Amino acid sequence: MKFFLATLFASAVSSIAVDRLIPGAQIIPESDTRALLRVGGHHDKYHDRRTITIRPSRNDTDDVSRDFLWGIKHANHGGRLLLKKGEKYVIGRKLDLTFLDDIEVQLDGELKALPKNSDGFDSLNVDGLTVTNTRVDVGDDCFSPKPNTTNIFVQNLLCNNTHGVSMGSIGQYPGVMDIIEHAYIENVTLLNGQDVGYGRINNITYKNIRIENTDAPVVLDQCYFDIEAAECAQYPSQVNVTNILFENISGTSSGKNGKVVADLVCSPNAVCSDIQLKNINLTSPAGSPPEIICEGVQGDIGVECQASAD
Ligand SMILES: *[C@@H]1O[C@H](CO)[C@@H](O)[C@H](O)[C@H]1NC(C)=O
Ligand SMILES: *[C@@H]1O[C@H](CO)[C@@H](O)[C@H](O)[C@H]1NC(C)=O
Ligand SMILES: *[C@@H]1O[C@H](CO)[C@@H](O)[C@H](O)[C@H]1NC(C)=O
Ligand SMILES: *[C@@H]1O[C@H](CO)[C@@H](O)[C@H](O)[C@H]1NC(C)=O
Ligand SMILES: *[C@@H]1O[C@H](CO)[C@@H](O)[C@H](O)[C@H]1NC(C)=O
Ligand SMILES: *[C@@H]1O[C@H](CO)[C@@H](O)[C@H](O)[C@H]1NC(C)=O
Ligand SMILES: *[C@@H]1O[C@H](CO)[C@@H](O)[C@H](O)[C@H]1NC(C)=O
Ligand SMILES: *[C@@H]1O[C@H](CO)[C@@H](O)[C@H](O)[C@H]1NC(C)=O
Repeated sequence: MKFFLATLFASAVSSIAVDRLIPGAQIIPESDTRALLRVGGHHDKYHDRRTITIRPSRNDTDDVSRDFLWGIKHANHGGRLLLKKGEKYVIGRKLDLTFLDDIEVQLDGELKALPKNSDGFDSLNVDGLTVTNTRVDVGDDCFSPKPNTTNIFVQNLLCNNTHGVSMGSIGQYPGVMDIIEHAYIENVTLLNGQDVGYGRINNITYKNIRIENTDAPVVLDQCYFDIEAAECAQYPSQVNVTNILFENISGTSSGKNGKVVADLVCSPNAVCSDIQLKNINLTSPAGSPPEIICEGVQGDIGVECQASAD
């Protein structure tokens, strides 16, 4: 599931009383270690955070958007929203999360989006999203702008056990235009990530990114999301990728992809230009020198790179 904050969108949700505890929710003060352990909240990490839990969905149509929004508001500014292990949280409405600030989302359960109607596409349109001072601990994408996301500002984000900052699912719908544009992503730390998909976009800056133990630290491809590489090569996308800057990216890969630390593969069917890598210091435990793959990229990328071996 490619799903995270940016997928919960800028749009109106009727205001809800945020003062009273809602049914099934819990607010656990940072000092109550026992209660925290009982719900499975992180304690050793960030023990200075109060923890909010909300009721999970009872079934796949039980929309807990209101509870989720309530929880995230109460966890904002220094708290933690815990979505419990083994539980499912179905989000069926558009949520405005542009207020996020200094929150930890401990996502042990499953977040699921419920498309209400087939013209739910507009729920994919995000303009103006700021995510700052946020810690995310999930088994999925840490920050994943969806189609038609513009003017994103991400700063001071720490992602643990996630795929990372990914630009997912562009070009998913045949004949529908998707845009991801004008994003500035700074000071993001990715720990223990599986792989990181970057791409399919215009005017994106990734700056001061620290990566540790991540399968594919820098990836740019033009595949549809969740499609295997071979299949992708067979059906290259028509999404243009332009004006992408990766600057000051450091750390290590997991070594799973050998010495490859950056993999830039462009579609022959689309424009792929003005891709720049600056001050990249990525190493692989599989050996040195680390390899940067670039295929189909028009023009110089600022560092030496080679065509993919396979
Ligand atoms: C799902 O759960 C909700 C809330 O408990 C309930 O109202 C609804 O009938 C359930 N739907 C199904 C299909 O079981
Ligand atoms: C993205 O925006 C364009 C132009 O406004 C629109 O035609 C398209 O349907 C949108 N795509 C999605 C997936 O919402
Ligand atoms: C970068 O983000 C981390 C949180 O991941 C924060 O602790 C640190 O202070 C930030 N650095 C700067 C220079 O803002
Ligand atoms: C990241 O997650 C791993 C495994 O869950 C944990 O051991 C580690 O302490 C976490 N690191 C941070 C900085 O949260
Ligand atoms: C690129 O995006 C940034 C925001 O990150 C914006 O300030 C800038 O104006 C954009 N550049 C162009 C040429 O649109
Ligand atoms: C590069 O990024 C790291 C964080 O990953 C930061 O500590 C460092 O100050 C940055 N260097 C420059 C020159 O901005
Ligand atoms: C991609 O670039 C081509 C060639 O410049 C252009 O004709 C096409 O409109 C662009 N597609 C999008 C979606 O911007
Ligand atoms: C690259 O990073 C390693 C540690 O990850 C560090 O020892 C080395 O000095 C860095 N090299 C440059 C040129 O910054």
